[in-house]
Amino acid sequence: QKGGYKHFMIKEIFEQPKVISDCLAGRVDQAKNEIILPEVEGMEPPERLHIIACGTSYHAGLWGKYLIEQWAKIPVEVEIASEFRYRDPLLSKGGVALAISQSGETADTLAGIKLAKEKGLSIIGLCNVVGSSVARESDYVMYTQAGPEISVASTKAMCSQLTALLLLALYWGKKKGVIDAATYSRAAADMRSIPSILETALPAMRSRAQELSREYSEANSFFFLGRGLYFPLALEGALKLKEISYIHAEGYASGEMKHGPIALIDPKFPTFAMALNDDLFPKVKSNLVEVQARGGEIIALTNPGVDLDVEHRWSLPEVWGPLNTFIALPALQLFAYETADYLGKDVDQPRNLAKSVTVE
Ligand code: M6R
Repeated sequence: QKGGYKHFMIKEIFEQPKVISDCLAGRVDQAKNEIILPEVEGMEPPERLHIIACGTSYHAGLWGKYLIEQWAKIPVEVEIASEFRYRDPLLSKGGVALAISQSGETADTLAGIKLAKEKGLSIIGLCNVVGSSVARESDYVMYTQAGPEISVASTKAMCSQLTALLLLALYWGKKKGVIDAATYSRAAADMRSIPSILETALPAMRSRAQELSREYSEANSFFFLGRGLYFPLALEGALKLKEISYIHAEGYASGEMKHGPIALIDPKFPTFAMALNDDLFPKVKSNLVEVQARGGEIIALTNPGVDLDVEHRWSLPEVWGPLNTFIALPALQLFAYETADYLGKDVDQPRNLAKSVTVE
């Protein structure tokens, strides 16, 4: 069942190249280099989108906001379902809610759907489990096609959610005629090459994660930092580490450090930074210099040739723009996995947690 792997989690991390291919299958017309999403064909692109989700699915939603706003020019609000459902949110009729859930059974997300429906919104369900409650309660359903996810810590499901969100951003951007043609073509074409790049890179990434996990297994706390698209990934990296290794970790937007959290930095409080080669890199770099000035050690996910002087560079193959996310995400997952496994934790069944949270 585990396909020769020690845990489901590592098996599922290694399945991600296939997960991306499966999620793209039938949704990208290769000949025309065009995105086709029959699932949402019947609806106009929303004027305003409310994303509701929990945990890792919420982080996927935060990431999706960046691309949907940038490429499709649709204002997006992303809400933790358990907050959304107990507020009295201002929702205008004709708006759309996008509920993201791997299991499709999360109680708070389902309650959020119910509330959004009562207020006249149409619902798109983005879920993995076919026929799940979220799928049944939604007006439009997009399946992420990641296959069963057994490990409590969600990995490949997030990868498939990000793929679907990227497709939605491109699809709506084109349908509205607001996305720049070069960006659309580049994203649609390059996304198809991600599975093979990731497949090749994963074994070396795992070795690097192993080395680093040995070095930092005694840390009591970790910061995960990122900007832009990598801020939601920082939140996810921290969630993965705390969830399975029980090491305290906090994800922050890099620029927030100086507003308080940097007070915690000392030589025993390491930082895991996402310092990939994008427009925001110079800003990330200056935030990391501030961490180093307080004696903090840094592991940085970066790309070859990037000018960065930290304790541990973790250089990932560079791909186009936002697609670097699909390489960075497994690195975070591998780091958490290797740390938890080295510490002898019950990786697939962490204490106090259930795979799907059906209580509110
Ligand atoms: O099935 P869902 O996507 O609705 O689940 C949401 C969260 O419970 C889930 O992502 C949880 O945070 C994971 N254990 C994270 O690894």
